[in-house]
Amino acid sequence: MMQGGKGDRDSFTSKFGVLAALAGSAIGLGNIWRFPYVVGQNGGGAFLLIYVIFIAAIGVPVMMSEFMIGRSARLNPVGAFKKNAPGTKWHLVGMLGVVSVFIIFAFYTVVAGWTLEYVVQSVRWILFPAKFGFESMNNDALTLFFSDHYDSFTQGIWRPIIWFVVMMCLTGYIVISGVKNGIEKYTKILMPIFLVLLLILVSRSISLEGGREGLVFLFKPDFTQIREAPFRIVLEALGQAFFSLSIGMGTLITYGSYIKRKENLAGTAVSVVAADTFVAILAGIAIFPAVFAFGIDPADGPDLVYKTLPVIFQNMAGGLIWAFLFFVLLCFAAITSTISMLEVIVAYFSEQLNMSRKKATILSMISAGFLGIICTVSPDVFGIFNASPDLMLPLGGFFIVVFIGWFFSGEKSKQELSSDGAFKIRYYRLFMFLVKFVAPLAIAFLFALGVYSKVINIFPSLG
Ligand code: PFF
Repeated sequence: MMQGGKGDRDSFTSKFGVLAALAGSAIGLGNIWRFPYVVGQNGGGAFLLIYVIFIAAIGVPVMMSEFMIGRSARLNPVGAFKKNAPGTKWHLVGMLGVVSVFIIFAFYTVVAGWTLEYVVQSVRWILFPAKFGFESMNNDALTLFFSDHYDSFTQGIWRPIIWFVVMMCLTGYIVISGVKNGIEKYTKILMPIFLVLLLILVSRSISLEGGREGLVFLFKPDFTQIREAPFRIVLEALGQAFFSLSIGMGTLITYGSYIKRKENLAGTAVSVVAADTFVAILAGIAIFPAVFAFGIDPADGPDLVYKTLPVIFQNMAGGLIWAFLFFVLLCFAAITSTISMLEVIVAYFSEQLNMSRKKATILSMISAGFLGIICTVSPDVFGIFNASPDLMLPLGGFFIVVFIGWFFSGEKSKQELSSDGAFKIRYYRLFMFLVKFVAPLAIAFLFALGVYSKVINIFPSLG
């Protein structure tokens, strides 16, 4: 069954399928690549504490609100707002979401493409070490493999473009296959395998000598660094929370529209948020002990993971094989996220512009493809795109909670949250308090101060 402008609409078929697809969207490079370096740059434990508070008090209500909007309308973000608030301007919030997803999809697929390069290169090194001047795959070879690759590869032009295009095509292939036969089928298998491998890495990393300091850095709040630039750092925590949970841009309005009426939305949101946070913290536990054990600078920035992983692999028998497995799975985790992004754009094109699913997918790939190629050739554009979640997602999230808190009728909210009376909603008043007051006020406040401090940074005379 195909979902599109015409015909019946597709949906997730099982509870586990729903959770796998949602967790698949949430868990990805944001947890493994972005989270550790953002935590490292912003002072460790104190940042983590703020992040977790945001996840619970803002992330959960925003995610539930997106599910409610999506499932009640069974449409893409723009269509869903049009159906829930006909004749108003609310659909512009959906449009903002589609644009945000577009930008994120472009730069994210570029980074996802890097993982493919590592997969392919590690196979070449495992099979033909002599080609690279080594008799066998020893630690020196492993060090060279990583140090050589990151710089020469990310600074090159053609290989990143090729892997970006390959990644884009893989994503397109799964999305064309539809929700049930593509997205649900693949994420159900890939996500559990990913978790097992991450646990193996964690167990190796925490047993490294000198690694304890890394755990102290990650878990013991020390607010000194935050005091230096509180507004910027707090906004970054909020942006990272939104990015990691895939909220604030309508991705979960779209996935919410495929959730069946019998599923419990609050329970689903809490499980997805818990899984996503658990994996981000696991990634931190895998990375920081090694960072401290080997004297790497935690504030190193976007290449932190690429610098730290090799030293973990060197301490594991058959290091390069583990590296290979890790990158295969990281690549899977990235694909389960890229398909959720492409799905938003495809659902928008197919439902609002009445295109076939196939045509919508190809058109989305070509247009996002141009943006992605600009990202690969221009580090500046890449930097701007990579920073965009901090601003665009909280903005989208603000309007989403305001819509549910103030414009969606109480009766409809109860209907959605209780799945037409099938579940008890004892948390209803707490939820309403969060979406009416806590989340919008907190987002507006943090957004205003964060933007102000970013502007001051660029134009100090304004301060
Ligand atoms: N949440 C994903 C991650 O942490 O890797 C990134 C992401 C997925 C962002 C889907 C946006 C999106 F629509």
